[in-house]
Amino acid sequence: MKRAFNFNAGPAALPLDVLKEAQAELLDFNGTGMSVMELSHRSKDYEAVHDQAQEKLRKLLGISENYDVLFVQGGASQQFSMIPMNLLPAGQTANYIITGVWSEKALEEAEKEGQTKVGASSADKKHSYIPALTDLNISQDDAYLHITSNNTIYGTQWKQFPDTKNVPLIADMSSDILSKPLEISKFGLIYGGAQKNLGPSGVTVVIIRKDLLERSPKNMATMLNYNTHASKNSMFNTPPTFGIYLLGKVLGWVETNGGVKAIEKLNELKAGMIYDAIDHSDGFYNGHAERSARSLMNITFTLASKDLEKKFLAEAKEAGFVGLNGHRDVGGCRASTYNAVPVEACEALRQFMLNFKAQN
Ligand SMILES: Cc1ncc(COP(=O)(O)O)c(C=O)c1O
Repeated sequence: MKRAFNFNAGPAALPLDVLKEAQAELLDFNGTGMSVMELSHRSKDYEAVHDQAQEKLRKLLGISENYDVLFVQGGASQQFSMIPMNLLPAGQTANYIITGVWSEKALEEAEKEGQTKVGASSADKKHSYIPALTDLNISQDDAYLHITSNNTIYGTQWKQFPDTKNVPLIADMSSDILSKPLEISKFGLIYGGAQKNLGPSGVTVVIIRKDLLERSPKNMATMLNYNTHASKNSMFNTPPTFGIYLLGKVLGWVETNGGVKAIEKLNELKAGMIYDAIDHSDGFYNGHAERSARSLMNITFTLASKDLEKKFLAEAKEAGFVGLNGHRDVGGCRASTYNAVPVEACEALRQFMLNFKAQN
């Protein structure tokens, strides 16, 4: 069996060790004579899986008891609606910082629920940068401030987070959660689909500060109310059990590999190799993101012409690289180097880029 060099933007590479463990346990989990998929979600065996996944995430990210950790469904996209439905009271304004397509989509959904404003935007330069913290227009009356911590499509990432004082900071961390240590206490709410750094698609993680739960209107739809999930330990209805099981395994893999600090070092090394190939190419490859805003998760670049890009992508595909096409909205190329993408895959891509340049 040959594993692909997987640079998919999400769903994305999972650690090989995790897949092997899951494979070994697939038919008989923990001596139950069943797969995890076949267990009742009310069984002791599944409950242990569920609680351990939560505990591991708390430990890895240093999440205190002031926060609830929820496993819900509907993807990050459903959070675009749930956040304003629960946290934007009438008479207040939700503040959105626009740094790409995903923050635009989040804003669009919030506009349907209440009053919004744009506190800053990077649209003037094709979202190639992150607005300076001093340029964010934040008012202490804002219901919350929403940011996208890593812009999967444009390849930019927030390196520092604003001090929003009494305004809850909400971050869509779909594409960089668990890639580095976080100061959780800066945030009111963090959310992300699991399918990049955490596990398979189908599970969405929400980390919410407990006091914010009081804001949800009493008469809102049960499944969209954060209190429903917080009060029932994310077991109000059937949770995505197999996804949560794999999430727990991915978290175990991060632990075994030294935790988020060690993972961050590896991410710097991996992305550094590819950025280095871009920077030392005399303009053969052009990075989309400004250097100060470069993402360690999604590396976006273009070549001199569409024809050359086509040739690059075709030859890369031939050589076993997967997922290097840029997003349809921006074109060009993108390498997603999430936690589980091995150093060797990044080294191979770097070598491929150097060789392709030499030959073209
Ligand atoms: C930053 C970001 N937010 C939101 C989404 C949408 O996530 P989902 O497909 O889980 O709804 C994505 C998907 O790639 C993303 O990268």
